[in-house]
Amino acid sequence: MCGIVGYIGKKDAYPILIKGLKRLEYRGYDSAGVALISDKQALNVYKAKGKVSELEAFVAEKDISGTTGIAHTRWATHGEPCSINAHPHYSSSERLALIHNGIIENYAVLKEKLQSKGYTFKSSTDTEVLVQLIEYIQNKQSIDLLTAVQLALREVIGAYAIAVLDHNNPDCIIAARKSSPLVVGIGEDEFFLASDATPIVEYTDKVIYLDDEEIAVIRRGEPLKIVTLPNMECEHEIQTVALNLGQLEKGGYPHFMLKEIFEQPDCICDCMRGRINVEGTNVVLSAVIDYKERLLAAKRFIIVACGTSWHAGLIGKQLIETFCRIPVEVEYASEFRYRDPVIDSNDVVIAISQSGETADTLAAVELAKSHGAFIYGICNSVGSSIPRATHTGSYIHVGPEIGVASTKAFTGQVTVLTMLALTLARAKKSIDEERFLAIVKELEHIPDKMKEVLQLNNSIAELSKMFTYAHNFIYLGRGFAYPVALEGALKLKEISYIHAEGYPAAEMKHGPIALIDTEMPVVVIATRNDLYEKVLSNIQEIKARKGKVIALVTKGDEVISRIADTCIELPETIECLDPLITTMPLQLLAYHVAVCKGMDVDQPRNLAKSVTVE
Ligand code: G6P
Repeated sequence: MCGIVGYIGKKDAYPILIKGLKRLEYRGYDSAGVALISDKQALNVYKAKGKVSELEAFVAEKDISGTTGIAHTRWATHGEPCSINAHPHYSSSERLALIHNGIIENYAVLKEKLQSKGYTFKSSTDTEVLVQLIEYIQNKQSIDLLTAVQLALREVIGAYAIAVLDHNNPDCIIAARKSSPLVVGIGEDEFFLASDATPIVEYTDKVIYLDDEEIAVIRRGEPLKIVTLPNMECEHEIQTVALNLGQLEKGGYPHFMLKEIFEQPDCICDCMRGRINVEGTNVVLSAVIDYKERLLAAKRFIIVACGTSWHAGLIGKQLIETFCRIPVEVEYASEFRYRDPVIDSNDVVIAISQSGETADTLAAVELAKSHGAFIYGICNSVGSSIPRATHTGSYIHVGPEIGVASTKAFTGQVTVLTMLALTLARAKKSIDEERFLAIVKELEHIPDKMKEVLQLNNSIAELSKMFTYAHNFIYLGRGFAYPVALEGALKLKEISYIHAEGYPAAEMKHGPIALIDTEMPVVVIATRNDLYEKVLSNIQEIKARKGKVIALVTKGDEVISRIADTCIELPETIECLDPLITTMPLQLLAYHVAVCKGMDVDQPRNLAKSVTVE
């Protein structure tokens, strides 16, 4: 949560910072601000409530000159969203300005200490405490900014990625991180700073990812220096980022979410590229080759994840248990990390995360590592914190996902989990060859089948208009379709603010059936598989109570089409691959309902894409 950007070089900083903030807006968008050292050597701070566009309007007549600056887009943790709580925060004397992503957990204690020394605070944020603390240390000990930052951060408990400007030292930005991401971009006579590489790639592909408790000393005209809190110099390899700018634009679509839904056939090809051989007879994941013995020796897999990634984990459980016959537990990372779980060195923990930065998932990884478990990451964002904290893993390679509601990352995660389960099962000889080959062959047909589903876009848009009245939705599925029901419900509530519940279809009669009346839309995933007849009975139960059934069925189904109010016909596939197909119409349904209701689809209220606070 929260996005931070910085620039120092020869160009005007403001346009670079604003463009960068727009790229990072997915991380939070309740207020934004910028600090610039102007051509007249003033340290100007401008802040506005709302999105980055509000900040742009606010600064219209202001002095936005300067070639050094930092900027921030916020997702509120401490203090309501308003311009006073927006970052950057000045220190008391207005000599320093600071931006922060993370949480200073002991801010109350530090604040009291500073208040007892006469400091007053304008905002209710934890961040203002940090900038005041730095200034207090700087004044008390007459030391330079770097040393003051180092000393202040040693007093801090919590997570931070920060950048600080000092009016008296206009050619320098000090930046530091712990548990919140920070990337330094290295250009020709210029440096960039950002929460991820997306604001940087336009100018340079050379980056350094800071590690925890490292501080970047970025000085105009000097080489980048990175030191630790105790002031040891660190060496870092410069990495090259492979992001293309087109991936960061809407490319003619009205929303990133729709673009990302439509990208799925290509994403799944990218995800499988080089992993399924040309003959379609083998699946290779390099992580499994490198750590085959360790993975096969696992007594148990534990999947940790949050949100949509957790739903992918539920599908992963079924895939691994079905094919590999190894028990799998799926845990919310936020629960796992705090409940003293039983973990040992025979366990393999799979951490699933699109962003690779989710604080709870990262903490779950660290906890499992400390108990000796082997950690396998399934992430999208290359070079992010979770892949760096794991022993090995597989990227999903679906490209940047910008819409806050996750779509293509989910299908990418399920694809990698399928390939992982198949690879392990073959190595373990727990799957027969014929079944293995049939699934691999079918996996290769999935992108074409996804394209068929996308042709339903217009009809799903039409259908959606009928449901804007609804205050509640139920989503039902069984087996592999149950996590899809959860994911469909999550998509709808995230972006349309309609309450929706996903349920295992057979559990409906233990509670949710009481909710069914003529007003209640019930989405049932009822494609043809071993549980088809059972799901059919569940549909009958809903219809007997006059619920409105929207059924996802296999093309050519003539039974359910006679009972359900509406059917969405989908291409047939093997049951274990069905989630890759059935998720897509639910993404489209949620999208179109939200559009009909006039909602901000890409940036729904109160949410953020990268949840770097617990
Ligand atoms: C946030 C996002 C969700 C995402 C979840 C986990 O809540 O809004 O879309 O599923 O975080 O994120 P991760 O990056 O770890 O997959």
